[in-house]
Amino acid sequence: MKKYTIITYGCQMNVHESEKIAGALEERGYVENADETTSDVVVFNTCCIRETAEQKAMGNIGALKQIKKKNKNMVIIVSGCMSQQKGYDKLLKEKFPFIDIIVGTTNQSKIGELLDEYLLKHKKIAQIDNTEKPEIVEVKSIARTSYPHAWVNITYGCNNFCTYCIVPYVRGRERSRNYKDILNDINNLLDQGYKEITLLGQNVNSYGSDLDDGIDFAFLLGEIAKIDRKFRLRFMTSHPKDLNEKILDIMASCPNMSKCIHLPCQAGSSKVLAAMNRRYTKEHYLHLVEMIREKLPECAITTDIMVGFPTETEEDFLDTLDLVEKCRFSSAFTFIYSRRKGTIADKMEQIPYKIKQERISRLIKLQNQITAEISDTYLGKTVEILVDCINNKKSGVVCGRTDDNKLVNVKGDESLIGQFINVKITDAKMSALYGEIVE
Ligand code: SAH
Ligand code: SF4
Ligand code: F3S
Repeated sequence: MKKYTIITYGCQMNVHESEKIAGALEERGYVENADETTSDVVVFNTCCIRETAEQKAMGNIGALKQIKKKNKNMVIIVSGCMSQQKGYDKLLKEKFPFIDIIVGTTNQSKIGELLDEYLLKHKKIAQIDNTEKPEIVEVKSIARTSYPHAWVNITYGCNNFCTYCIVPYVRGRERSRNYKDILNDINNLLDQGYKEITLLGQNVNSYGSDLDDGIDFAFLLGEIAKIDRKFRLRFMTSHPKDLNEKILDIMASCPNMSKCIHLPCQAGSSKVLAAMNRRYTKEHYLHLVEMIREKLPECAITTDIMVGFPTETEEDFLDTLDLVEKCRFSSAFTFIYSRRKGTIADKMEQIPYKIKQERISRLIKLQNQITAEISDTYLGKTVEILVDCINNKKSGVVCGRTDDNKLVNVKGDESLIGQFINVKITDAKMSALYGEIVE
């Protein structure tokens, strides 16, 4: 039996791309194998959002050099955002001459065919497609790995060019999928027993802006809301410049829409936000949060925050802490700004690393306190969770998520995976809740 391993870095978008790559390999008779050192095909699906993401991928690719020396038939493929960067096909070839196939983001869907070609001719392949707006490829065979949960792309690429961000350069311009294809996918997934769908896009709220049929994100949500079956619908990521009242109204009126919004603020200072080209102010962000709290009182708001962006002063940073205190996010992903070649912010004057480190620890301390306080509010409450996995660290315990995306641990076995159950919360830690099943 031929075996494959896919090592994925980066965001949910990449996790889902890897499911598509897995689909192409399984169509060719390969089976999944957790140990890459014994696989016939190893794919590194890479990310370059921060320097650390690149370093991780580079380190792991390098580690395969000795294995490949012993196992000459192993095919090593590098794909994704890191290889899509300008000049990286050359750089990767020089640094790791043992890589067999290099592809970028837009031609990942061709990995199956490129592998066939490689196995036939045994000639190394490096194919990066630099088309700004490549055609959307509707992939049919997807080997999904996250039952009862499924990802569905609604847009690819990004048009926003936030000044710190590499994504628009490596994912091309925004392209929206036809809404009928999206609805088809969702209905098929529900038929197959999936219970939670997450719509994916760098800025889901601008869905449709490149189509000429007047269709927008609110319309798409409205169509999905008509599906009269029990499931949860999530979406990410929402961009504060495009999230609007219409979308919140649909969320409020449809029981299938999860009451949870991931709304990255990035910073609290309007001056820094302008330098980031985020195209909203602190006041606008606070206004959105207020509107969400009013229309969806049960809704959790999560966010991404960056510290140490060029030009960020202590005063600007205090604005970020102030925003965090005012918004009371359920949780936040916090990052230290990382320079990315080719972006505008890379050419601006940089802030010393020590200051960035000091700021991030202050930010994490504040957010942890808020996350813990919010977790405590669940104590004694009964919540519905969708069980999604076994707890690997504690035997006889399964994990699930509440509608507002809180992690809950409860006694149970594998048979509960994919079921909605009611749980009474008996203990609350910062990052997870614990409870007992109630009828
Ligand atoms: N499209 C999403 C973000 C995708 S990237 C949005 O606009 O919100 C995920 C997160 O990585 C971003 O929200 C940002 O906080 C962080 N990020 C992006 N570029 C970064 C950089 N150069 N350094 C540090 N963090 C970065
Ligand atoms: Fe990057 Fe901004 Fe696009 Fe998000 S919206 S992917 S942060 S450029
Ligand atoms: Fe995602 Fe990383 Fe690419 S965050 S879009 S995999 S650069």
